[in-house]
Amino acid sequence: MRGPESGNAGRLSAELPSPVPPHPLDARITADRARKYRQVLARRTVRLAVVIEDSYDPHNATAIIRTCDACGVHRVVVTTARNGFKVNDKVSQGVHRYMDLRVLPDIDAAAALLKPQGYRFFVTDLAAGATVGPQALQPALDAGPVALVFGNEGHGISDRARALADGFFLLPMSGFSQSLNLSVSVAMTLQALRGPAVAADQPGDLPAAEQIATYDRWIRAYCGEDVGGPVAKPAQDRFGTAVEEFRA
Ligand SMILES: C[S@@+](CC[C@H](N)C(=O)[O-])C[C@H]1O[C@@H](n2cnc3c(N)ncnc32)[C@H](O)[C@@H]1O
Repeated sequence: MRGPESGNAGRLSAELPSPVPPHPLDARITADRARKYRQVLARRTVRLAVVIEDSYDPHNATAIIRTCDACGVHRVVVTTARNGFKVNDKVSQGVHRYMDLRVLPDIDAAAALLKPQGYRFFVTDLAAGATVGPQALQPALDAGPVALVFGNEGHGISDRARALADGFFLLPMSGFSQSLNLSVSVAMTLQALRGPAVAADQPGDLPAAEQIATYDRWIRAYCGEDVGGPVAKPAQDRFGTAVEEFRA
């Protein structure tokens, strides 16, 4: 598996404690890569998950994936009832292979996965008049895991997502447009909720066992082993550019 090659080494300059012990395959990768894997995992959060319902635009999907990685969000669930989730692998720099990406048929499947783990669904509903900025979600996050649900570019969220909501939120806007671009709204929300922790280079909250299991998965995949997980099919965006399409 190809991986992000260079990039954020400077931003991982602090040495956070890692629960990941030496691995039998460590000798097969560079010390720099081994350190980066451990340090990225030490900063990941699972307290906040992102759910994307049926996005059709590969530019948005790719930007969302990069934003989640940059903000340390480990769990990303995409539903594909209406559209495959298409990522431009070159632009994403392969980071979608370095997160807990789940590709599910619909929002009910996302709820069936996440709600038993304690996640409450906070849904972006532009119609509900929920003028609650993302910062207002902080008390909910302090109380337990939160999944942020974002909708499709054309239709917004589904009625079913609305029905499954434990709460709603909205990025307040003061201009003429009715809505923000999907990937921009994900970025603004994560920046509001995760920005301070990322800027302060704080440790994340990925449990030690999951850091160890994820490290094992990443290093085995990098060394060419089949570790399962979502399989993408080659596809094209509307300009004919090669993308990877995930579909449940
Ligand atoms: C382009 S918008 C969808 C617009 C759609 N016509 C509607 O009325 O919902 C795509 C997605 O971006 C997110 N989004 C857009 N503007 C937002 C805002 N102001 N606050 C929170 N999320 C927003 C929502 O998840 C939304 O479902």
